[in-house]
Amino acid sequence: MITNPRTKEKVGIGYDVIFPKVSIVDPTLMTTLPKDQTAYTSMDAFYHSLEAFLNIDANPYSDLLAIDSMKRIVSFLMKAYTNGEDLEARSNLAWASTEAGITETLTGVIANHAIEHGLSGFNEQLPHGLGLCITGPYLLEYMFEECRERLAVLTKHVFNIDEFNVNKSASLFIEKLYEFQDLFNLNEKLSKFGFKEQDLPEIAKVAYRIMKGVIVKSPKKLEEKDLVEIMKKAL
Ligand SMILES: [Fe+2]
Repeated sequence: MITNPRTKEKVGIGYDVIFPKVSIVDPTLMTTLPKDQTAYTSMDAFYHSLEAFLNIDANPYSDLLAIDSMKRIVSFLMKAYTNGEDLEARSNLAWASTEAGITETLTGVIANHAIEHGLSGFNEQLPHGLGLCITGPYLLEYMFEECRERLAVLTKHVFNIDEFNVNKSASLFIEKLYEFQDLFNLNEKLSKFGFKEQDLPEIAKVAYRIMKGVIVKSPKKLEEKDLVEIMKKAL
């Protein structure tokens, strides 16, 4: 990830040749990660999976990994947050993050990551995982019609709630996600980080320029003005 402070562009780079031959994912190395970074990185993984699940190119393999990853994060984040030395919790989060990384490769993220790159490119004090949590629920509400059936699946499999009415179930997912984020103080407002309404069109423009490729994979057609609307709600 590279940020150009002059253009405020925060760009991710990925090519086949930079894939590791072997990855060592060792939860014992993660026990000293502070509480807030534990929450931010776990929710980054959660949004990789959630966005891959909602991506118009989602496929059954990445769906399986995405669901399992979100489920593990919901089940184990509080344990690792409360006690960083809990190796069972750390192992589950490490595996969840690995699964989320695979979903990101197989399918990819959507507009929430584009918006976040726009925001943290503009203000590098905003942690990536926190930025995703701030705008994520508003993006889901904004695309509700287009993603309600997929969200309803997640209500059952991630939050273990049986609600057979699709609209109610999808709304419950957003509600439960918001409640879950609240446990870790992740429902902040953008204004706390100094963002102002007049900054938003420029941020949307940069987000669109550098990450149009993932924005167009969102289930709803989103233009710059839509990104502005979503950020406005999170101000
Ligand atoms: Fe991310």
